[in-house]
Amino acid sequence: MIKETLNNAINKQINEELYSAYLYLSMSAYFEEISLKGFANWMKIQVQEEIAHATGLYDYLHARDGKVVLDAIQKPNCEWNSPIEVFEATLKHEQFITSKISELMDVAEEAKDRAALSFLQWYIKEQVEEESTAKDILAKLNFAGADTNALLLIDNELGARTFNPPVIG
Ligand code: FEO
Repeated sequence: MIKETLNNAINKQINEELYSAYLYLSMSAYFEEISLKGFANWMKIQVQEEIAHATGLYDYLHARDGKVVLDAIQKPNCEWNSPIEVFEATLKHEQFITSKISELMDVAEEAKDRAALSFLQWYIKEQVEEESTAKDILAKLNFAGADTNALLLIDNELGARTFNPPVIG
């Protein structure tokens, strides 16, 4: 059975992942408001990714005879001034999540829980991708600057994103 310290830390991470989904849904709403439907689509897919990250941890706790305890989800920001500001916030948020996953690994290490360490490796790798994707889109937005045509090209590209449920663990 999983140690209580690790069980509690995983519950906290479930909350962080669900907050991430809430934050990205709020960002998607911003893009809908300014008629950047491709960006809105990208963010909605990101919501699904985050819910998958949360349910991956949820399923893992059950598989280890742990106890899932859901907590309140923090209110996300809902005011942004530009797509660049949104993606700066996205990158910063993913860097924060990376630090949380690292802390979770520390708890698993302290608990000497090799199974959990192995499972959490997936999340470590996923965070590399999450940060890299946010950085790439932010770079494109910076290149585009005030060029509306370039912004619409990026919008078109992000509109093609589809959800492929991740295989976690
Ligand atoms: Fe669940 Fe975007 O990290």
